[in-house]
Amino acid sequence: MFKHIIDQDVELRLLDNHHAEVIFQSIDSCREHLREWLPWVDGTKTVEDTKSFIEMTKKQFASNEGFQTGIWYQGEFAGIIGYHGINWANKSVSIGYWMDERYIGKGIMTKACKAFVDYAFYGYKLNRVEIRCAQGNDKSRAIPGRLGFHEEGIIRESEWLYDHYVDHVVYGMLDREWK
Ligand SMILES: CC(C)(COP(=O)(O)OP(=O)(O)OC[C@H]1O[C@@H](n2cnc3c(N)ncnc32)[C@H](O)[C@@H]1OP(=O)(O)O)[C@@H](O)C(=O)NCCC(=O)NCCS
Repeated sequence: MFKHIIDQDVELRLLDNHHAEVIFQSIDSCREHLREWLPWVDGTKTVEDTKSFIEMTKKQFASNEGFQTGIWYQGEFAGIIGYHGINWANKSVSIGYWMDERYIGKGIMTKACKAFVDYAFYGYKLNRVEIRCAQGNDKSRAIPGRLGFHEEGIIRESEWLYDHYVDHVVYGMLDREWK
C-alpha cells in the first residue's frame, strides 16, 4: 500500500477499500461541519456511498489522472486530500481537501497540502497547481495563503451548495514560483 510519511504524526495513505468504514464514520460524525462547504455530504448516506467514492478514486489513479489519500494523524484517520484529475494538455491540476472536525486547528492540512503541491511539481512535473475555495471559507483560504499561492480572482456563483450558490476564490501556484 502506498504511503507517504510527512512527520512523526502525519501520514498520507492511498485510499483503499478497507478504509471505507472509518471514512464513512468520520463523515457521519461531523456532517454539519462538512456540509457548510462541501456539496456531497447529504448524498453520502451509507458506507456503500463511501465505497463507491473509493472505487472512483482507484480508477482515477489507475488511469494516471491523479490520486486521493487519507490523512492519518497519530495513527487515526483525520481527513482526505486529493487531486481533481490532471489536465495533462495544460500541465495543471487542482487540489481538494477536508478534515474531520476533531483534527482541525493543528496545521495538519497545510502540511498535507504542501506534500501534494510538491508531488505535482516534482513527481508529475506539472506547471500549475490550483486551489479553489468558497469566498467565505476562511479556514480553507488560509491554506493556499500560508503556502504562498497567488490569489488570482473570483469565479462568481461557481458552486451550488444545497440551497445557494457560492463564489470561488482561485489560488494558483506555478512550478517556477514554488521552486
Ligand atoms: C478547510 C480545513 C481542512 C482547514 O482545516 P485547518 O485545521 O484549519 O487547516 P490546517 O490543518 O492547515 O490547520 C491550520 C490551523 O492550525 C494552526 N496550526 C497549528 N500548528 C500549525 C502548523 N504547524 N502549521 C500551520 N498551522 C498550524 C493554525 O494557526 C490554524 O489555526 P487557526 O485557524 O485557528 O488560525 C477544515 O476547516 C475543513 O475540513 N473544513 C470543511 C471542509 C472544507 O471546507 N474543505 C475545503 C473546501 S475548498
